[in-house]
Amino acid sequence: MHINFSEMYVDDDIRSAVAQVLDSGRFIKGNNLRQFEQEFAEFCNTEYAIGVSSGTSAILLTMMALGIKKDDEVIVPSHTFIASASPAKFLGATPVYVDVDPETYTIDPTQLEDAISANTKAIIAVHLYGHPADMDPIMDIATSHNIPVVEDACQAHAGEYKGKRTGSMGDIGVFSFFPSKNMTVAGDGGMVVTSNEELAEKISMLRDHGRKEKYVSDMLGLNLRLSEIPAAVGREQLKHLPEWTDRRRAVAAEYDRLLADVVDTPTAAAWAKHVYHLYVIQTDDRDGLAQYLKDNGISTGIHYPVPVHKQPCMEAGDVELPVTDTLVDRILSLPMHPQMTDEQVQYVAEKIQEWVQ
Ligand SMILES: Cc1ncc(COP(=O)(O)O)c(C=O)c1O
Repeated sequence: MHINFSEMYVDDDIRSAVAQVLDSGRFIKGNNLRQFEQEFAEFCNTEYAIGVSSGTSAILLTMMALGIKKDDEVIVPSHTFIASASPAKFLGATPVYVDVDPETYTIDPTQLEDAISANTKAIIAVHLYGHPADMDPIMDIATSHNIPVVEDACQAHAGEYKGKRTGSMGDIGVFSFFPSKNMTVAGDGGMVVTSNEELAEKISMLRDHGRKEKYVSDMLGLNLRLSEIPAAVGREQLKHLPEWTDRRRAVAAEYDRLLADVVDTPTAAAWAKHVYHLYVIQTDDRDGLAQYLKDNGISTGIHYPVPVHKQPCMEAGDVELPVTDTLVDRILSLPMHPQMTDEQVQYVAEKIQEWVQ
């Protein structure tokens, strides 16, 4: 048996949506983008959604719209994908790393106060692996210091915190549609969501040469737009997101049942609707297990083996993050996607049981 780590769903509706764009001759800033933005905003319970070219673009544009610049500080976890933090660094700001909670793998709110300084201009909470960050204490602390909160929901489409959709609680939420994500646009793509009109307008302009009118650029912008073909695919994928989320949660529940006594399985906080972008276990001989699974046709991943504060380009120097530093050597992401069959889940669990015995 060969089991893929993730799989992109394609059906005739998606093929036909792409064909319609090809036949229409309209490839950017058309009806698909407008509709996708409206539908995605509705899904997230936000006023606005702005389609962009990737999750990284979404974070860069967010940092630009918040005015992040040289010598500002941006608080972010280190146990995440580099793009949570690199746009701030790219703009000359300093990422200030906060450790993660060992249960949820998301930013530890009890360590936030100590990380805040007079230069803190944003807090980025990452809903890592599909588990929402503990937003209430994060928002309380941020509000008391008047610091905007960005939700990096690139791994958490359809996630919920106390019944609220990921992306809708902070000042801005960002999503990625990279092909392995919980929904995709069959390539790179991303979305920024917000209910703040001013920020929505700024981001919308910044992604399109800083303009509202064709030949007048009011602000310095870039081209980080989402094209019509990916927007059309995204609209079709969004229709499936609720059923795919249910299936991911069912796969996770089955993994939990079969593996609870074998390895450290992930936990979901009582207030969390975990959407299992990744199903991440922990074990001492992680590399040995990964090799055994590979030898048995099972693809796995490590998210992430090098934390952001240890990435050479981030030039962070000595930073003490004991939870992050312990996790990175023990974590292993198992195959997880909604097309997985019960037999496949069983096979993965069996091979892990075999290896442990
Ligand atoms: C947590 C997180 N932030 C940001 C990104 C960046 O998204 P993209 O790959 O679409 O640029 C990703 C996805 O890879 C991610 O997982």
